[in-house]
Amino acid sequence: MIDQATIDRINDAARIEEVVGDYVTLKKRGVNLLGLCPFHNEKTPSFIVSPAKGIFKCFGCGKGGNAVHFIMEHEQLNYYEALKFLARKYNIEVVEKELTPEEAAARNDRESMFLVNEFAQKYFTDTLYHHVDGKAVGMAYFRERGFRDDMIRKFQLGFSLDERDAFTRAAQKAGYNKDYLVKTGLTLEYENGQLADRFRGRVMFPVHSLSGKVVAFGGRVLKKSDKTAKYVNSPESEIYHKSNELYGIYFAKQAIVREDRCFLVEGYTDVISMHQCGIENVVASSGTSLTGGQIRLIHRFTNNVTVLYDGDAAGIKASIRGIDLLLEEGLNIQVLLLPDGEDPDSYARTHNASDFIEFIRENSTDFIRFKTKLLLEDAGNDPIKRAALVGDIVRSIAIIPDQIIRAEYVKECSILLNVAEETLYYEINKLKGREREKQFAARQQQEAVQQPLPQGEELPQVMDVSAVRFEKEERNILQVLMKYGKFILFKDEEQQQEKTVAEYVIGELDYDGLSFENPLHQKVLAEYRQHLNDADFQPERYFLNHTDGNMSRLAADLIADRYVLSKVHARSGNLVPDEDRLLELVPRIVLELKNSVVLAEIKQKLLEMKAACEAKDNVRVDAIMREMKQLDEVKKQLAKALGERIINRL
Ligand code: CTP
Ligand code: MN
Repeated sequence: MIDQATIDRINDAARIEEVVGDYVTLKKRGVNLLGLCPFHNEKTPSFIVSPAKGIFKCFGCGKGGNAVHFIMEHEQLNYYEALKFLARKYNIEVVEKELTPEEAAARNDRESMFLVNEFAQKYFTDTLYHHVDGKAVGMAYFRERGFRDDMIRKFQLGFSLDERDAFTRAAQKAGYNKDYLVKTGLTLEYENGQLADRFRGRVMFPVHSLSGKVVAFGGRVLKKSDKTAKYVNSPESEIYHKSNELYGIYFAKQAIVREDRCFLVEGYTDVISMHQCGIENVVASSGTSLTGGQIRLIHRFTNNVTVLYDGDAAGIKASIRGIDLLLEEGLNIQVLLLPDGEDPDSYARTHNASDFIEFIRENSTDFIRFKTKLLLEDAGNDPIKRAALVGDIVRSIAIIPDQIIRAEYVKECSILLNVAEETLYYEINKLKGREREKQFAARQQQEAVQQPLPQGEELPQVMDVSAVRFEKEERNILQVLMKYGKFILFKDEEQQQEKTVAEYVIGELDYDGLSFENPLHQKVLAEYRQHLNDADFQPERYFLNHTDGNMSRLAADLIADRYVLSKVHARSGNLVPDEDRLLELVPRIVLELKNSVVLAEIKQKLLEMKAACEAKDNVRVDAIMREMKQLDEVKKQLAKALGERIINRL
């Protein structure tokens, strides 16, 4: 952890126009600077930098934040790495926060394991380049496969000697503790205390985390044999959770953002060969089916995935299931079938990048279309198989989150399958109904359970907010608190005192017993309360500079967001600084949350009502009726207040 004072110092030194100016040509435009957005392709500039506010915002792609967030996005670093990056640029010494003994121990464990892996990587690479066997066996193998030297260096490939404990001895001699050698899985410890190397006589592929640390190794045998597995891999450990890693992500992340697409292949060699031919936005699932964690990792960088399949059809059907997970996450998926007998590795070795990219462009098909055609061929005229196939396709379409995209697929599949659109919709709605019931039951069960926030550097920074019903309303309130919290909203004549925006908003929330659903929003509000009465509390600065990267990110989003501004402008018809409209705006956004909460409660009551009616529980029906009547009354009042926009309680 970097301590707060250091973060403040970094943020104070890192002038947004300088940091962005290293990458983007900026021109003065009034008080702001304007340029071409580095995060998406554009011809007319919509990327604005505000030196006064210390933030950037692209009105084309929506990306925005402060200097740290710009570096995170541009260099694809996490919060701490970006802070350190800027500290280096501005010659600021980074003071790390004191850790509790438990934190320190856990961290030391992890760090020691990373150090061991780093040593191992260097050792294996060194062996490959300098040991007789490394050169004669390992390097000869890579050469024969056509791996170029710059790729062998880039991916830090290596070789493990075919000896019992050559590596373990070297590591111990260099001072590495046996415990960490065993914990990383590099060394095997037998019951009699004997130690041996896990990797022997194999070419070595280090697996890098998103930030470039070696978390594991894969070792490939040199000769095909039935006796030994083709690959030996590091076991799961404190620093290696296979289901959260993707081979190649560290080397691909910038290219994925740049190309706004990720190619998904099976193996280490596919990734390396594609890089060698010039295609860098590629990662491998390492032979297993994709997990949710891996998909979210891809989703941080792009919405578009192309899955590359080997020419032989055998494996395709097995992996099709895994792809439903990608659909569910809302990704757009294309499929590319390579010519018979080719895999990405062999194809990349025999073609150059532009030919390969051309081939991909011409031969990629949309996944659902691909799946439908494939299953159709398979089913032939068998009516039972055809019926099963419709069910299968419908399942894939039903999980797509975007309604418009779903509708397109229904149209297309209706033609392909020769089934009426209505029939497909009927099946989809049946499935969705079942899904909703499941979700509803699950939500009720975990009602009181608070989700812990993602923390730590390797965890995904994207939060799942699908379960939060009032996302927009909550954000609006936080935005007002962030930007205007300390402004005087009005004078309370009776009590002869002034009320700030923050006091008013928090007072209103408390008055109605409202809290936020999004755990990150809750956390911000809780800290806001703690500092509400601090004389020198500057909410914008406090949250932008927060040690928790998630909070800092949210603060930047809220500050850069134009939503409130444009709304006020639209209503008044001319450009009044929004400060002048606070008295209209602030009560309104609080009302909007209340309104949404009440509407959701009414919906909920209707469901309960239906259940009570079905159960013929008349007493319960009566009770719910009374509650609904009250809610209806509140709803009417809120609608009136929202409609009039003049709030009487003020
Ligand atoms: N894999 C594994 N263990 C195995 C076989 C495969 O972990 N016994 C994983 C590896 O990550 C491998 C990927 O599955 O990279 C794909 O398998 P495969 O295509 O067989 O291996 P390649 O790495 O492509 O090797 P090659 O092209 O040399 O056969
Ligand atoms: Mn392969």
